[in-house]
Amino acid sequence: MALGENDRTLIEDDVVGYLQRHEDKSLLRFITCGSVDDGKSTLIGRLLYDAQMLYEDQVASLTADSKKQGTQGQDIDFALLVDGLAAEREQGITIDVAYRFFSTEKRKFIVADTPGHEQYTRNMATGASTAELAVLLVDARAGLMTQTRRHSFICSSLGIRKIVLAVNKMDLVDFDQKRFEEIEADYRAFAKDLGFDDILCIPMSALTGDNITTPSDKTPYYDGPPLLEHLESVSSTRQEEAPFRLPVQWVNRPNLDFRGFSGTVASGSIKPGDPIIAIPSGRRSTVSRIVTMDGDLQEAGPLQAVTLTLEDEIDISRGDMICGKDSPAEQSDQFSARLLWMADDAMLPGRQYLFKTANNTVPGQVSKLKHKIDVNTLAEKPGKTLALNEIAAVNLNLSAPIAFDPYEENRQTGSFVVIDRQTNATVGAGMIDFSLRRAANVVWQDLEVGREERAALKHQRPAMLWFTGLSGSGKSTIANLVEKRLYDMGRHTAILDGDNVRHGLNKDLGFTDADRVENIRRVAETAKLMLDAGLIVMVSFISPFRDERQMARNLVPDGEFIEIHVDTPLEVAEQRDVKGLYAKARAGEIKNFTGIDSEYQPPRHPELRINTVDMTAEEAAETIVQHLTDGGYLSA
Ligand code: ADX
Repeated sequence: MALGENDRTLIEDDVVGYLQRHEDKSLLRFITCGSVDDGKSTLIGRLLYDAQMLYEDQVASLTADSKKQGTQGQDIDFALLVDGLAAEREQGITIDVAYRFFSTEKRKFIVADTPGHEQYTRNMATGASTAELAVLLVDARAGLMTQTRRHSFICSSLGIRKIVLAVNKMDLVDFDQKRFEEIEADYRAFAKDLGFDDILCIPMSALTGDNITTPSDKTPYYDGPPLLEHLESVSSTRQEEAPFRLPVQWVNRPNLDFRGFSGTVASGSIKPGDPIIAIPSGRRSTVSRIVTMDGDLQEAGPLQAVTLTLEDEIDISRGDMICGKDSPAEQSDQFSARLLWMADDAMLPGRQYLFKTANNTVPGQVSKLKHKIDVNTLAEKPGKTLALNEIAAVNLNLSAPIAFDPYEENRQTGSFVVIDRQTNATVGAGMIDFSLRRAANVVWQDLEVGREERAALKHQRPAMLWFTGLSGSGKSTIANLVEKRLYDMGRHTAILDGDNVRHGLNKDLGFTDADRVENIRRVAETAKLMLDAGLIVMVSFISPFRDERQMARNLVPDGEFIEIHVDTPLEVAEQRDVKGLYAKARAGEIKNFTGIDSEYQPPRHPELRINTVDMTAEEAAETIVQHLTDGGYLSA
């Protein structure tokens, strides 16, 4: 989960190549987490160096570099090494996680190294999503930090069950036994409800190499293994044991004789001759071939990119999931989930985002924020929106069903990322807990008389005239004049106006960002029903956010949404101050006032822009009616 398209390709290429070269040894995926100064880079550098997976010339240049710019005098600066390696991979990586592969005599490893700053929680979540074990670094001098707790919580949520608490920088506290035991006790007390089944606390110094690859003689009180030995021997849970899942990324049909379904195996394994079931269709068939770039395979497993051909011609498309016959994935469009928010802009329930799974991207919204989770105490707390790095239990409402498994059963097919529709940035990551059955029970009613028929009866085409602009810009005045003109022409119309709707349907809503989003969501849905009745609807709301206006636009067929920006500059609206609200807002008596202390995002490409400085309200109305006539909305 939580990977951009680019990351996936990069990682898959590497992993598959790596697996092919080291077929015989078992693999452990782990992640290192810690704050910036905990010594994480030094630790990984030390592991890689001591496991001797570095090329000679890299070591040579590292020694030279350290002398020039390192912070450790004549010794090798291992942090420099890892930072350098990470930089190599930065190009093409949208989320900044560096994956290193190394191997000892006993085992091969993939380690996800993630930046430790608070705002990089998302990188951590990305790295953790495939790991089986986490090495959490703490500075022996500082002890547990909020960050340690947050990372533990995320690791636990993402299904990691094995933890190494690396109590680092022990050299700076004289390898003090009491200090170590204090930190260990603190951590065990905190983590007792997180469901880890294996916690090992190791006193160490990445800088001096104590308890990294060899036991240290400075910690006689510690009788556990050094870090590397533990990593080599800890049991690794194998994704191969989960049921088979191939999220279909594309249908490969180069000619009429070949039809294959391509994707990366998310879990389980498959052989030619194995029976499968396709979700959502429920159709069954049998695998005939497993095709790859390097020839056919006799078996494929997790993270391998393959193309399956089937014995029967069954209909499967991108976004579907091919599953083992006896354990199909579920499908739904309504979920209970946990969500980690990763963006500076808050998550607003009701706002439309894109939800991206392994092979599907579907618009949807958080329909309910049930409660937030305090990462320090793990207590539930109330909340309406979700800020950067916050975690909540939510309900999701997607616009189309997706194939999935509960996260607890399958980490690959039970997770998703949230993408902002405007910026395309990854803004959240989540885990599906279960489907809310409602989706299966509420069936869409197909109606006999359609919108076209109703509109034709009225000699018009349905249209949603969406007036947006600052308070006092003249939206309502102009909308009223337009309606009057249309009425005189015998057309059927309706008006939805912010001030009025807020007295009835939306009287429970105020002016926070979250309330405005919900305000517009309800109004857009209401306007849509009116469109279905064949009406020309005038919607006159500040509607300050692009996202929600886009959402309204997406609700109706192309051409029926006409965005009209009533473009009155703030100075002008404020000077007119028809309702006296600007004066109050300036005096601090009204909070979150649009244009003063709440944002207005002007439309980038409205169908019409009305400049009320150069135009009277009558002229504006005339312009709009003309636009409707020209666009064929008003037939004879
Ligand atoms: S919207 O932002 O959610 O679209 P809406 O159009 O419904 O706003 O309501 C705006 C009207 O509410 C304004 O014209 C004004 O009369 C009134 N109002 C009261 N408080 C505020 C506020 N804080 N910001 C904007 N308008 C406010």
